[in-house]
Amino acid sequence: MKVVHTIEALRDQLRGQLRVAFVPTMGNLHAAHLSLMRMARQHGDPVVASIFVNRLQFGPNEDFDQYPRTLEGDIEKLERERDVYALFAPNEREMYPEPQNFKIQPAQALGSILEGEFRPGFFMGVSTVVLKLFSCVQPRVAVFGKKDYQQLMVVRSMCRQFQLPVEILAHETVRDPDGLAMSSRNRFLAPDERAEAPELYAALQRVRDEVLGGDVDLAGIEARTAAQLDGRGWQVDYVALRRQRDLLPPETDEVRNGEPLVVLAAARLGTTRLIDNLELAFTP
Ligand code: PAJ
Repeated sequence: MKVVHTIEALRDQLRGQLRVAFVPTMGNLHAAHLSLMRMARQHGDPVVASIFVNRLQFGPNEDFDQYPRTLEGDIEKLERERDVYALFAPNEREMYPEPQNFKIQPAQALGSILEGEFRPGFFMGVSTVVLKLFSCVQPRVAVFGKKDYQQLMVVRSMCRQFQLPVEILAHETVRDPDGLAMSSRNRFLAPDERAEAPELYAALQRVRDEVLGGDVDLAGIEARTAAQLDGRGWQVDYVALRRQRDLLPPETDEVRNGEPLVVLAAARLGTTRLIDNLELAFTP
């Protein structure tokens, strides 16, 4: 695997390649990231991964400084799997050589609801860096995980509206055997918190069963579920049943008519914030 730290070296490696498949990450790679690399391998060639902890998407009180940086171990993992041709690991000066005055962000609704409400500026940071990374790598396809469901939708909608020649592929959420969605942040969970953490996914499964069982009082289900988590020591940001197509709340009639829904949740155990989601009907 070629490890390159500059845009110039990356371009040298990729000259003339028209079928690049790209997987952007912030590193501290786990099995889910590696599975995204495998998926990329099936949809393009060569595969390029990136590791860049993007300051722009962290809020002032978020964990930018604590975010785990494990480049050596990450390189070993990628080398072992042999799916990735080149790893782009720029430093901050390479990605942001001057103050980033041009920023893009999803406007109304999509950018300001759910994660956007609790992490102001987050999707500005994500869409700006993903656009910059796309401009460096110039991929034909890029793979994103459904674990970050709203991020996937933001990236898709950015590509559509800027007519970027990149196809966005969605990878299913990869979970530990007990149901906890894999995340670089799981390592911050204390043993008792790690034992409790799968309850978030369990709660989403109960929501799904209730809706599929015919309960159309979505607000009631959301409130009950949040209260249950709360009672177990979670601090809940949201439990929200939404339409898959735009993440807005469905009308009751739409629920009855089988509108594809997704339930999304964000909650903290101690200081660790976890997100998860579950699609209720077919995939988008
Ligand atoms: P990061 O959290 O490192 O995630 C990189 C990619 O892996 C994202 O597409 C994310 O959705 C996916 N991923 C992480 N955990 C997953 C899981 N358990 N199952 C499936 N996919 C999973 O997301 C980011 O980095 C950044 O916001 C980034 C897009 C790189 C922009 O900075």
